[in-house]
Amino acid sequence: MSTRIPIAGPWITEKEIRYVSDAVAHGWYGNASKYQTDFEQAFADFIGRRHAISLPSCTSGLHLALLSLRVGPGDEVVVPDVTWIATSAPVSYVGATPVFADIDPISWCITAGSIEAVLTPRTRAVIVVDLYGNMPDLNPILELCRRRNVAVIEDAAEAAGATYKRRPAGSFGEFSAFSFHGSKTLTTGEGGILLLDDDALYRECLIQRDHGRAPGDIMFWNHTIGQKYRMSSMQAALGLAQLERLPELIERKRETFDWYRRALGNVPGLTLNSEAPDVVNVYWMVTAIVDPKLGWTKEKLIPALREQNVDCRPFFYPLSMLRSSGRGVPRLAAPFPAGASSLIMVAMRHPNVAAAASSVEQHQFPHLRENLLVRPSSLADKIKKRLMLSCGPFWRCYRCHALHALRSQGIIRPKQ
Ligand SMILES: Cc1ncc(COP(=O)(O)O)c(C=O)c1O
Repeated sequence: MSTRIPIAGPWITEKEIRYVSDAVAHGWYGNASKYQTDFEQAFADFIGRRHAISLPSCTSGLHLALLSLRVGPGDEVVVPDVTWIATSAPVSYVGATPVFADIDPISWCITAGSIEAVLTPRTRAVIVVDLYGNMPDLNPILELCRRRNVAVIEDAAEAAGATYKRRPAGSFGEFSAFSFHGSKTLTTGEGGILLLDDDALYRECLIQRDHGRAPGDIMFWNHTIGQKYRMSSMQAALGLAQLERLPELIERKRETFDWYRRALGNVPGLTLNSEAPDVVNVYWMVTAIVDPKLGWTKEKLIPALREQNVDCRPFFYPLSMLRSSGRGVPRLAAPFPAGASSLIMVAMRHPNVAAAASSVEQHQFPHLRENLLVRPSSLADKIKKRLMLSCGPFWRCYRCHALHALRSQGIIRPKQ
C-alpha cells in the first residue's frame, strides 16, 4: 500500500526539540518569559515591525486589534467573503458587523474595488487576508483605506514568508496577525502573534490581553475586564526554532507546489494557486479549482482521492453561505444566489465568557458591569481590610512571612 499523503503538517527537527526541551527545563521563575520575549523580538525584526505580541492564536490577535481600535456595536468591518471564519468571528466578538467583500477569482484575495463596493460611513476597519499563502494587491487597498480613514488589519495567518513588492506579509496596515496552528508552515502547535508599530495601541493591546493589567503597574490591579491571551514558553521556543528555519520551510513548500504545477498546471479545467509577478506566494496549501464541466464535484473528488491515500479538503465556504443558528454556532444554509456574495451577516453573539466580559466593558450590560466592578463583595471587603498577599515560589499565601518582611523593611508599621 502506498504512503498516505497528508494535507499539511509540521516539519520538526532536532533544533525544535532542543529549544522546547530547554524551555521545559529552564523556562520558569526568572526565565518564565525569556522565550516569549526572544520570539517576539525575532519575529518583529523579521517582519520589520516595532512591536510583536505572542498569543494563543491568530484569532485572539485579530480580537485584540479590534478591541484596541475600540471597534464595537454599530461599526462595520469589511472581511473577505472567502476565508476561514476566524477572520470574521472577532468582529462579532466585539459586537460589530462583518461585511463581506468579494474575492478576486485569480488571487483569491479581496481587492480595492470589492472593498470600495461595500464601504459605508460606518466602516471602521478592513481585514485583508493573504489567502492560502498568496498576497492581495495591497497598494490600492492601502491607498483606498487611507483616503476613507479606515484602519487596515492584515490577516497573514497562512502567509509567513510571503512577500508583496518585496515587502513581507505581516508588514501592512495598522496591525497584522499570524497563526501558528499545527497545519501552518511555521507552527507552535497552537499559537499566534500580533504585530504593530503604534506605541499607544501596543500598550492598549498589552492591557487587553492580560485581564486589564497594565505592564509595570500596581500588581493585580485591573483597569478593565480584558482577555487572557498569552503564549507559553514551550510554544514560543518551538516558534523561535521554526522561525530560524523559515527559509527552508518555505523552500520545501514551494518545491511541493512545483511538483503539482508541473503535473497538473496544464490540465484543462483545473486552476491552481496563482502568483503575480510582484508576489512571492508561499503556497500554504496546494489548491485546485475544478471546473464543473469535468464532471467532478468536491463531494465526489475528496473521497475518491482519499481512497488513493491522498488527503484533501474543500476550499473555504463563502462566509455569506453560513447563517447563525441564533446561538452563536453557524450552520450551513442554502447558498445565496450567484453574484450575491457581498452581504452583511447579522452579528453573532459569541458564547465565550471572555467575549461576554468585553461586552460588559462596552457597557452593553450595565447592571452586570456594576455587579462585577463596582459593588464590592463581602470577600472583597475582607481582602481590603486584612491585607492579604500572595507571594513566594509556590502558589500559596505567605501572609505572615510577607507581613514580617514588609514590617522589617519599614513599609508597614511594626506590631504594637
Ligand atoms: C485566514 C485565517 N485567519 C485566521 C485563522 C485563525 O488562526 P488561529 O487558528 O491561530 O486562531 C486561520 C487559521 O487557520 C486562517 O486560516
